[in-house]
Amino acid sequence: MLLARAAYNGRLRASYLAIFYYVCRRRLTPTPTEIHAAPSRRAFHGARCLRQQAEDPRNPIEISQVLENYKNAVEFPPATLPLNKEFLATVTPGQEVVLHGYLGVRNDVSKKLSFVRLQDPTMYHNIQVVSTANRDSFNVLRSLRPNSPVVVKGTVQAKQAKNAEMAESDPWEIVLDEIHLLNEFPNDIWMAPDMVHPPKHRHLQLRTSPDLREALHFRAKVREICRRELTKRQPAFVEVETPLLFKSTPEGAREFIVPTRKPGLAYALPQSPQQYKQMLMASGIHKYYQFARCFRDEDLRADRQPEFTQLDLEMSFATSEDVMRVIEDLVRRLWSDLMDTEIPSGPFRRLSYHDAMKRYGSDKPDTRYGMEIQRIEHLLPVDLVNKITPLTNPIVEVFKVEGNDNNPAETSEFITRFLDSPDGAPFNSNPEGGPGIFIYDVKKPLRGLQPFGFQAAEYVEDLLEPDHGDLLVIQARNPAPFTGGSTPIGDLRRALHSAAVKTGFKPAPTGFQFLWVVDFPLFSPSSESEPGQGGAAGISSTHHPFTAPKTAADVDMLLTDPAQVVADHYDLVVNGVELGGGSRRIHNATVQEFILRDVLKMPEERLADFSHLLEALRAGCPPHAGIALGLDRLVALMLGKDSVRDVIAFPKFGKLGEDPMVKAPSSVSMETLETYHLRPVDG
Ligand code: AMO
Repeated sequence: MLLARAAYNGRLRASYLAIFYYVCRRRLTPTPTEIHAAPSRRAFHGARCLRQQAEDPRNPIEISQVLENYKNAVEFPPATLPLNKEFLATVTPGQEVVLHGYLGVRNDVSKKLSFVRLQDPTMYHNIQVVSTANRDSFNVLRSLRPNSPVVVKGTVQAKQAKNAEMAESDPWEIVLDEIHLLNEFPNDIWMAPDMVHPPKHRHLQLRTSPDLREALHFRAKVREICRRELTKRQPAFVEVETPLLFKSTPEGAREFIVPTRKPGLAYALPQSPQQYKQMLMASGIHKYYQFARCFRDEDLRADRQPEFTQLDLEMSFATSEDVMRVIEDLVRRLWSDLMDTEIPSGPFRRLSYHDAMKRYGSDKPDTRYGMEIQRIEHLLPVDLVNKITPLTNPIVEVFKVEGNDNNPAETSEFITRFLDSPDGAPFNSNPEGGPGIFIYDVKKPLRGLQPFGFQAAEYVEDLLEPDHGDLLVIQARNPAPFTGGSTPIGDLRRALHSAAVKTGFKPAPTGFQFLWVVDFPLFSPSSESEPGQGGAAGISSTHHPFTAPKTAADVDMLLTDPAQVVADHYDLVVNGVELGGGSRRIHNATVQEFILRDVLKMPEERLADFSHLLEALRAGCPPHAGIALGLDRLVALMLGKDSVRDVIAFPKFGKLGEDPMVKAPSSVSMETLETYHLRPVDG
């Protein structure tokens, strides 16, 4: 009891789980008092509990009593009114009501008087219930546990308010006439406000966390607004569902395979509805959209789930500009309806991939906090360059972190801690050399920039205009064209900023900066970590192999220098999050086949995997373009959540994407494996 009280006080949050398991262990075996308790007071925990009781000779199952109680719950009376703001505004004293809801913690004021809050089924509203010993319902109420779902019948009366504010906000109470238990809340489950539950008890987490439930409500509103906005456009977007049992194609990401009963044949779950939506464009559907479930067998990250949702759309007879305009309108509507923020009118800012990589070292930069990167190798003495990198003729870049209160000592403490931390340590082991760190200090020789030498120090001061206490970070890299999503100095910029915010060295940036990152290279060098299209050309599509070259000159370069071809591809980036990606597509079957076969050099058998798409494009498919927004990321961004898990009802956890609640993935019996003609491989 002492333990419970301490936890309720919220002081022992960290030890909740330990206590919870302790209580569970103790409570799973019924105590002698429980075994002999009145049947109505005994918890019915479902199948697991019945089985445990059946195995316990001290505790025979009284199934007849359980069924009797269950019968009462099967035919429960409807609520006269939902317990909501309207109810609170319109009821009158003396009115008889029937309410549904969950019991709160009861307050037994005396032997003859109890109070309890009844929380409505939406868990948004609650009302006080008063019970007095002169009614039968008094003893029933006293036998019930908090959190149990009940039906309450009673009479409305004005509540005795302690002050005017309470009289206004909580004016009514219900005098209890009858209370019916709909299901017991067992005493081996411990649930308290703000309690942190393990992922396997996601249902309890949802029930105790208003924030998590609110995120699901908010997500539903986002979907509603998207649907409304897309369907009210002229001509309207049409919602079309595309199959989830698709086939394996080398679109880009690693797939989940679904074996079938036919030997050697499998479906694949779609990594996106990309190919189906393009086939819809060839089918006379002018504007398509869908909230699409997508599946990618990738390692989890805060913004990545193996199963996620996209708002996917495609338009025929359309260009990239048309698609970007639709998304800008949609995002504006979402922000004005749900965030009370008007995004300034006009197209969103655009930044080319090359400029994003050059200025921020990232293809999805957070542009709110400056710290722009500049090249300075031409300003630096050779011995300084040799000190920071083993590379010959490297590119050397710099950015500035503005210090706090012009205090070099504080800056020094911040950067030392960062470099010693797990977040900072990897930057020191970069084979291209670790970062060079300088604190600008007007009291030191050459203001702390002595290793630069007199002339370079002056150049750098002119370039960056540092103040006393600012941090200058330099980093070398190979003099090669940009590829991939970031550079080492870009990663360092991001990590340093995030550490500065986390430690309070800098305030968190606010607001939203919307950005289209455009002009990506159509192809990137193939990497071992990404499956790509598996072609022999050593390059893979940067986005997916259906993306069109941007200009006529880019089409020409397909034959001469594919690595230089710019794609008509656009990513929507907000505050460092890639919210969506899309492109104009190759709508000509022969050009598409040429890219797959001759540019990417895909093997014939893999090329054949795309025959359905080529066939559809060949049937006079019109030009088309589209995009997909990550719905999970969109909602997380709007709510300021660090992880998409916080806006998904039942997310996956762990590196491999497990669902600990249902214990998936789970092992499969030999019998099932045989049905699908599968055999486990030893080792
Ligand atoms: P892309 O692969 O860029 O494009 O995906 C579009 C958006 O989907 C979201 N997203 C994810 N969200 C959560 N977990 C993941 N594992 C995950 N992967 C992607 C991101 C991303 O920007 N078919 C193309 C779209 C098109 O060209 O129209 C596609 O899927 O927010």
